[in-house]
Amino acid sequence: MEDKLINLKKAFDEDIANSSSRENLESIKIKYLGRKGAVTQVFKELGQVPADKKPVIGQKINQLKGEISQSLEAKEKELENGQISGSTGNFDISLPAITKDVGSPHPLTIVKDEVCSLFVEMGFKIVEGPEIETEHYNFEALNIPLEHPSRESFDTFYIKDKFLLRSHTSPVQIRVMEKEEPPVQIIVPGKVYRPDAVDASHSYMFHQIEGLLVDKGITFAHLKGVLSVFTKKLFGEKTKTRFRPSFFPFTEPSAEVDVSCFICGGTGCSVCGQSGWIEILGAGMVHPKVLKAGEIDSKEYSGFAFGMGVDRIAMLKYGINDIRLFYENDLRFTKQFS
Ligand code: DAH
Repeated sequence: MEDKLINLKKAFDEDIANSSSRENLESIKIKYLGRKGAVTQVFKELGQVPADKKPVIGQKINQLKGEISQSLEAKEKELENGQISGSTGNFDISLPAITKDVGSPHPLTIVKDEVCSLFVEMGFKIVEGPEIETEHYNFEALNIPLEHPSRESFDTFYIKDKFLLRSHTSPVQIRVMEKEEPPVQIIVPGKVYRPDAVDASHSYMFHQIEGLLVDKGITFAHLKGVLSVFTKKLFGEKTKTRFRPSFFPFTEPSAEVDVSCFICGGTGCSVCGQSGWIEILGAGMVHPKVLKAGEIDSKEYSGFAFGMGVDRIAMLKYGINDIRLFYENDLRFTKQFS
């Protein structure tokens, strides 16, 4: 009987040493102290022990029971202290953490914010305008008369009567000039709409950023200076800027602005079509008729304007080859830009 008690204690010590959870501890308690447990069992067997040995053995069993209870209690405390509150106690610190699904800005928002803040640093004020426009602001006031062929390049969603979905952000130039006295120095981000068939490079809704600066004595040199600073900050210090003569009804003279390819540095690659240059915006000196539509005297004031596509810049910057990716809301795509 005495050997049995020694072995029982050994077995218990081993069990408790290997126990790492409360559930496990509970089953050990039942195994030894439960109604059918090992200690209860030896108490029952006490009846068969010769009478002269009974007091000693009885005392030993009691002692064992006390030791087992104490160890169980101590182990329970140990597990409680080491465990994270609310967990079951079976806490494996080597498991990877459950990550929280944290939101991230859309790549178009990242580019829009970056472009706007670069102009804000140069003193421009962010302004927004309505997406539902009138023919007057979208066309006429910008020197695009009804029958003028240039209207074709601004194919437009008409709503009703003279209302339409703006096909560019340029109408906001007029809205601001009407309200404010020069100096006017604004940057206008926003959505624009054109009835284009959707493909890898076209979407019926996309994003533009418009810029306008009107003051006394503004020249093309100011335009070049501002845009050169901007392109260097956006694409890197080594970026060169090139102005190519172009035509827009609302500017005279007009230019298309290219930057040296920020992928190949100008030597020629697939992104720049081997030319070394990438077109990123349209710009020019505000046409006197446009100043007039904005109630500004073109004899006293002059200004420059520019407009760029946010989607296009984001595609170039991140090497995205399909504009539709911006609008599918696939988290596997949008999460890559946080
Ligand atoms: N509104 C033109 C477009 O949507 C872009 C543009 C070109 C805006 C030249 C300007 C500008 O302000 O000066 O294609």
